[in-house]
Amino acid sequence: MSDLTESSKRPTVLLTGASGYVGGRLLPFLEQQSIRVRCMTRNPDKLRQSVGQSTQVVAGDVQDRDSLMRALEGVQTAYYFVHLMSNARDFEEQDRQAARCFGEAAKQTGVQRIIYLGGLGDDGDPKLSPHLRSRHEVGEILRQSSVETIEFRAGMVVGAGSLSFQLMKSLTDRLPVMICPRWLTTPTQAIAIQDVLDYLLAAKDSPQCGSGVYEIGSPDVVTYGGLIREYARQRGLRRHLVFVPILTPYLSGLWLALVTPAEYEVGRHLIEGLKNPTVVRNSNAMETFPVRPIGVSEAIGRAIAESQLAT
Ligand SMILES: NC(=O)c1ccc[n+]([C@@H]2O[C@H](COP(=O)([O-])OP(=O)(O)OC[C@H]3O[C@@H](n4cnc5c(N)ncnc54)[C@H](OP(=O)(O)O)[C@@H]3O)[C@@H](O)[C@H]2O)c1
Repeated sequence: MSDLTESSKRPTVLLTGASGYVGGRLLPFLEQQSIRVRCMTRNPDKLRQSVGQSTQVVAGDVQDRDSLMRALEGVQTAYYFVHLMSNARDFEEQDRQAARCFGEAAKQTGVQRIIYLGGLGDDGDPKLSPHLRSRHEVGEILRQSSVETIEFRAGMVVGAGSLSFQLMKSLTDRLPVMICPRWLTTPTQAIAIQDVLDYLLAAKDSPQCGSGVYEIGSPDVVTYGGLIREYARQRGLRRHLVFVPILTPYLSGLWLALVTPAEYEVGRHLIEGLKNPTVVRNSNAMETFPVRPIGVSEAIGRAIAESQLAT
């Protein structure tokens, strides 16, 4: 059989968000598999420079229905790693419309499975931040398309290059004394990037089981303050955390001054979400997927090593 015939028999997987953190980290693993990988981006020329030779790059925007129909044509599994927080005031509405458009196009083109990574947080919490509320809503809309949707919900993804980890790192590296809102006592279950990737890869190959929501995290429930202290400990930094009851605009600005302008909007929404507990509340993911996440100290250690390699 010719190479061409052989390759045309392979299932096609669409990766959105390949220029972003999670998608960018997943891409090399997909490229090693016996599948055809197609990446969708708003800037194909830029992305083409960082993909393998056999990976197809197509122009597409989740807000443009026709481009989605083209990108999803012939696709079996589609990864949805898009959020519109960085460029939108009304990101909730835009994310809602984008998910609707993507779900409908996936249904019409015969996609068999959508795999989505959203955020942890309790749906029943009336004070859930707009960011987390929107992440959950996107999952719900994708499921409503009736295409089987596997939604993972994660807290902070610990890895060099992850914006939420980067925020914590920048703060701890630069501020010997941190004035912290009480939110830093909120419990959270961060997760190592490699464990996230293992879940995302396992979801592609798992037998059909209907749509589902899977909460994922390391086995350790810690506070954001605890994460900062552990990061500082591993880096040999002496840091003092001084807690204040509210995060004033001044304090918020102080924190955000440490991120780049491009990350400012996303950073603002992420910080708002720190007040919500982000913990794993059931064992669905552990029961369904053969992934056993590492502890948070080891995850931080790996991310520090990765950051040092990158500099
Ligand atoms: N990083 C974390 O710590 C973390 C934690 C929990 C959950 N998550 C979830 O994981 C997912 C991916 O997060 P990430 O950190 O990898 O995001 P990211 O680095 O900010 O990347 C976002 C991606 O969205 C794409 N995008 C934005 N607007 C688009 C549009 N109109 N049409 C098509 N694509 C668009 C961008 O692609 P182009 O610019 O190439 O078009 C970009 O690659 C999100 O759902 C996020 O909520 C992340």
